[in-house]
Amino acid sequence: MQKICVVGLGYIGLPTAAVFARAGFDIVGVDVNKQVVERLNKGEVIIEEVGLPEVVKEVVAAGKLRASVAPEAADVFIIAVPTPIHEDCTANVEYVKSATKAVIPHLKEGNIIIVESTIPPRTMDDIVAPLIREAGFDPEKDVHIAHCPERVLPGRILIELVENTRIVGGLTPEATKKAADVYRQVVTGEVLETEAVTAEMSKLMENTFRDVNIALANELAKISARLGVDAHKVIELANRHPRVNLHHPGPGVGGHCLAVDPYFIVEKAPQEALMIQLSRDINNSMPDFVIEQIIKLTAELKEPKIALCGLTYKGNIDDVRESPAIEIVQKVLANPRFDVRIHDPHIRAEQVPFELVSFEEAVQGANLAVILTDHNEFKALNKQTLLAQMETPVVFDTKNCTGLEQEESLTVHRIGDLTGLQAISISKPINK
Ligand SMILES: NC(=O)c1ccc[n+]([C@@H]2O[C@H](COP(=O)([O-])OP(=O)(O)OC[C@H]3O[C@@H](n4cnc5c(N)ncnc54)[C@H](O)[C@@H]3O)[C@@H](O)[C@H]2O)c1
Repeated sequence: MQKICVVGLGYIGLPTAAVFARAGFDIVGVDVNKQVVERLNKGEVIIEEVGLPEVVKEVVAAGKLRASVAPEAADVFIIAVPTPIHEDCTANVEYVKSATKAVIPHLKEGNIIIVESTIPPRTMDDIVAPLIREAGFDPEKDVHIAHCPERVLPGRILIELVENTRIVGGLTPEATKKAADVYRQVVTGEVLETEAVTAEMSKLMENTFRDVNIALANELAKISARLGVDAHKVIELANRHPRVNLHHPGPGVGGHCLAVDPYFIVEKAPQEALMIQLSRDINNSMPDFVIEQIIKLTAELKEPKIALCGLTYKGNIDDVRESPAIEIVQKVLANPRFDVRIHDPHIRAEQVPFELVSFEEAVQGANLAVILTDHNEFKALNKQTLLAQMETPVVFDTKNCTGLEQEESLTVHRIGDLTGLQAISISKPINK
C-alpha cells in the first residue's frame, strides 16, 4: 500500500486522510496548527462533520493515520490547504506555495503531488511546477503533479469523497493517469482525466454556475419586492417549464467556495468575466437588503428586540466563513436602536466575537425573529414557542425554511415574498 502525506487537515484534508486510511493506506496528516495535530493523535477531531469522529477514532487506533507538524517522505502528497481571497478579492495562494515548499525537501523521483485546494486557473503550471523546477526536479518527468479539485458537500463529505465523480488534471498525461489511479483505489464514482488547467477551470465554473444562478434568484427577490410579486410562486411556476430550474433567493452567498471561487476567474480575465463579477456584487448586496427589511419592520418600535437565528453560511454545519449571516449580525449590532440576541445551535462561543444565547433566551420578549440559516432546528420551529415567548410574534425567514404559515396570531415574511410587509406595531395583539 502506498504511503500518503496529506498536508492541511481541515474540512477537506482530514476526511480525505481518514478515507484513505480506512482503505488501508498509511497516512501521515500534516498541519501547521499544533492543536489539530495533538488532538488528531489522540483520535479526536475539532471540526463538525457527520461520521468523521468515528472514522478518525478507528483509523488512528488502528495506526493507519497519525499527525505531524511537518511533512515526511511518502509516495503521494496531497495538498489541501486554504485558498482564501485577499481584501481586494484576489486569490491568496500563499498557503499552497508554502505547503509545496514544505513537501519539496521530502520529494523523491516518481512521487505524485496532488493539489486538492481550489486554485486559480494556471496555478499548477505557473506556480506549483516552477517551485518544483527550482528545487532541481523536472515537474514533467521526475515527479508527477496534478490538480484534483474537491466538490464535496459539507455534512456529506465522507459519502461524497467516495461516491462523487472526480476530475484529475495533470501536468502531463502520465501525471494525470498516476494521480487518477490513486483516487481509483477509494473512489466508487468515475475518475475523469484531463489536463491541469481544465481541471482548475472546471472546478471554478461549477461554483460560478451556482453563484450566478443564486444571483439571478436574488435579483428576482428584489424585483418582486419592488413590484409586489411573490417570487416563490414565480419560481414554482417557472420551474414547471421542462428546461427551467430557477434557484431560490436568500440572505446572500457564503462559504469559502461559492463566495470566493468566482473571483479567481475574475482576477485572471476581468474584461471578460462581467456576469461573474456582477453576480458576486448582487449576492454581496443581499445582507444590506435583509437589513433594509429589518429597519422597515421595526420602524415604529422604540427599542426593538431582535432575535437573530443562525450564523453559518448553510444549514446543519458549524462553518461561518464568508457567512452573510455574520455580516448581517454585525450590522444589526452596530445599530444602537436594536436590542439584539443571537443564537446558533451549531456554533461554539469561541468561534464568534459576540455573545450567543439559547433559542428560548433569544426569542423571549422579542419583537422580531430573523432566521438566517436553514438549520434543522429552525425548519422545525414550533409556532407555539414563538407565540408563547415573543412580545410581537413576527418572523422574517430569509432562508424560506421554517414552514411557519402566516396567520392571524403570527406574522411571517420571507425573502422573495415581502408583499404586505408592514412595520410591527406594539398596538397589534400581544400575547402577554
Ligand atoms: N470545505 C469544503 O467544503 C471545500 C470544498 C471544495 C473545495 N475546498 C477547498 O479545499 C481547500 C481546503 O479547504 P478546507 O475547507 O479544508 O480548509 P480548512 O481551513 O478547513 O483547512 C485547512 C487546514 O490547512 C492547514 N494549513 C494551512 N497552511 C498549511 C501548511 N502550509 N501546511 C500544513 N497545513 C496547513 C490549516 O491549519 C487548516 O487546518 C481550499 O482550497 C478550499 O477552497 C473546500
